[in-house]
Amino acid sequence: MQQTFKLRKFNINDLERITYINRTCLPENYSDYFFLDLHRRFPETFIVAEENGEVVGYIMCRIETGLSSFIFRGLVKKAHIVSVAVLPQYRRKGIGEALVTKAMENMRLYKAKHCFLEVRVTNTAAVDLYRKLEFEVSRTIRSYYADGEEAYVMTRKLPSK
Ligand SMILES: CC(C)(COP(=O)(O)OP(=O)(O)OC[C@H]1O[C@@H](n2cnc3c(N)ncnc32)[C@H](O)[C@@H]1OP(=O)(O)O)[C@@H](O)C(=O)NCCC(=O)NCCS
Repeated sequence: MQQTFKLRKFNINDLERITYINRTCLPENYSDYFFLDLHRRFPETFIVAEENGEVVGYIMCRIETGLSSFIFRGLVKKAHIVSVAVLPQYRRKGIGEALVTKAMENMRLYKAKHCFLEVRVTNTAAVDLYRKLEFEVSRTIRSYYADGEEAYVMTRKLPSK
């Protein structure tokens, strides 16, 4: 299938559209400040997908410092996928996969060694997407979401090169 979308970094003119996509696709919504702060701190991993000049999806991430969950080597930088979404009419065309793949590539610019995220256990589309990209469920958090649903924490190592 020919790719009809392109990826680029978020810029502040995208804010209104990203807010719209976030509210359309997910119950976890954020303030303008939240989006802009993540962009200010981690611009390389705040990426949008455009189709015919219109933004139809995004991913945003935060780099955090924590203990390695793979091998005990003290503190490591981990990239946290905070939010990813594609508008319903643009799904199943590879956009979600391309956004996560590009974000993982750019996480290395921040020297992140691992990548992780939380996902609703019933969110088959997202869980399958992450599994396809070699994430594994590392644990389950009960009542993670405001409505009481459990979350899987899914994790993968980032390639060093
Ligand atoms: C999850 C989401 C971002 C996927 O975006 P997408 O552009 O449709 O994903 P892609 O087309 O790149 O699909 C890549 C892979 O994900 C999996 N996948 C995507 N949608 C799926 C679905 N509805 N059912 C099962 N697997 C699915 C498949 O493994 C797919 O690979 P394949 O096409 O070779 O089978 C999109 O469904 C979405 O925005 N959902 C609402 C927001 C959300 O849940 N975000 C994640 C929160 S953690």
